[in-house]
Amino acid sequence: MKITVIGTGYVGLVSGTCLADVGNDVLCLDVDANKIRILNEGGIPIYEPGLEAMVKKNEAAGRLRFTTDIEAAVAHGAIQFIAVGTPPDEDGSADLQYVLAAARNVGRHMTDYKVVVDKSTVPVGTADKVRAAIAEELAQRGVDTPYSVVSNPEFLKEGAAVEDFMKPDRIVVGAEDPRAIDLMRELYAPFQRNHERLIMMDVRSAELTKYAANAMLATRISFMNELANLAEKLGADIEHVRHGMGSDPRIGYHFLYPGCGYGGSCFPKDVQALERTAREAGQELKILAAVEAANEVQKHVLTGKIVQHFGADLSGRTFALWGLAFKPNTDDMREAPSRALIGDLLARGARVRAYDPVAIHEAQRIFEGEAGVEFAASPMDALADADALAIVTEWKEFRSPDFDAIKSQLRHPVIFDGRNLYDPAHPRRAGLEYFPIGRK
Ligand code: NAD
Ligand code: UDX
Repeated sequence: MKITVIGTGYVGLVSGTCLADVGNDVLCLDVDANKIRILNEGGIPIYEPGLEAMVKKNEAAGRLRFTTDIEAAVAHGAIQFIAVGTPPDEDGSADLQYVLAAARNVGRHMTDYKVVVDKSTVPVGTADKVRAAIAEELAQRGVDTPYSVVSNPEFLKEGAAVEDFMKPDRIVVGAEDPRAIDLMRELYAPFQRNHERLIMMDVRSAELTKYAANAMLATRISFMNELANLAEKLGADIEHVRHGMGSDPRIGYHFLYPGCGYGGSCFPKDVQALERTAREAGQELKILAAVEAANEVQKHVLTGKIVQHFGADLSGRTFALWGLAFKPNTDDMREAPSRALIGDLLARGARVRAYDPVAIHEAQRIFEGEAGVEFAASPMDALADADALAIVTEWKEFRSPDFDAIKSQLRHPVIFDGRNLYDPAHPRRAGLEYFPIGRK
């Protein structure tokens, strides 16, 4: 099938590449000429495990191409995926300007039947707006070309995006037009594996499903974070509690890990956007307001522990930071808890020396000109002469460190662990003070 993907970010690039990998002829469009240049020169603009090799393989096979040429992109695909960003507006609602600009481009240039697929995370009712934007453009041109608008939200996780796309738990498609339904079934047939993964529904339900899923996951995390803080006060251990809770199959072990808050490009903005959608519909989603507030508190939980230990004035101190990305296996730092901690430490006069296996480049861009932040080439380099170590991202390479070496490097033998990476006995055996989340 001929497919166009509009927007070549995390979702667009992964979707386009995976769709090419099963034999489709995919053209990816972006307005960011630099991104397209990098891709056309054999590079890759993001870090995502397994993606680079897959991009190269499919480019070499002639099934995957990249362009900034809007007209050519619209002409190419019978299916036009819209995978552009939907960042939060000032009031928290999803900003649809990029989605609607993409839709207008389709309407401006299409000459034959198109299925326009909203893959971006968009509020309920967006498919209607996309349909109207295309209709307006067609009317201006005085043409009456048929088209369908479909909702197909994406559930991939950064860091496991290729695996998630190639082996999905579910593929949600909201479509009402039989011609579009047939095309979507054909498109996703290679991804069904041992049982049907495609869940067909109406467009509005599909749009809501995406927000509902992310909001539920964010709720679990905030609930566990609040419980962890309580466990600390009560002298209980949240890791035992988590184990005991998760063993109930109705609860399960996934997304039950307490930490220093959730970040990323999805949960924070999607929780806000769903709250906003509800408010517009005349309903207050009280739970989500609490989820958001709890996460805001949690992003500063390590600061609280550091201040409790070192006092409010941290001037003259240096903190080693392990992990900058909002989670492991990505270079994405959007809404990363590390940013909140670094901001707090700088505001209290401290310096930060940070290490991350892949996100340093992104952090250098974010903290450009910030004298209090420097970067280390290895976890151990980050420790030299630092007052203490704070761990923010659970990269695998942090899981089994040499605690004796850590102790010998730090001025004060203290670890603040925002991801509960260690059995507390291990750092303590090496003479380190250890402050995890929700544990004695
Ligand atoms: P991103 O910012 O990485 O990429 C968006 C891309 O769209 C950018 O490269 C931008 O230049 C391009 N773009 C903007 N307007 C354009 C236009 N008119 N024509 C062509 N290209 C255009 O965003 P992302 O993380 O890939 O997210 C995209 C959407 O998918 C969002 O709605 C997001 O909520 C959703 N989503 C993201 C993830 C994730 O893990 N990142 C997962 C599921 C869903
Ligand atoms: C999320 C959804 O999981 C995915 O389905 C959707 O398509 C996009 O949004 P992503 O943002 O890539 O994916 O990361 P995810 O693995 O969900 O983690 C989000 C945040 O929650 C991270 O900051 C992570 O550290 C945090 N988290 C996750 C916890 O604090 N505890 C957990 O148990 C799980």
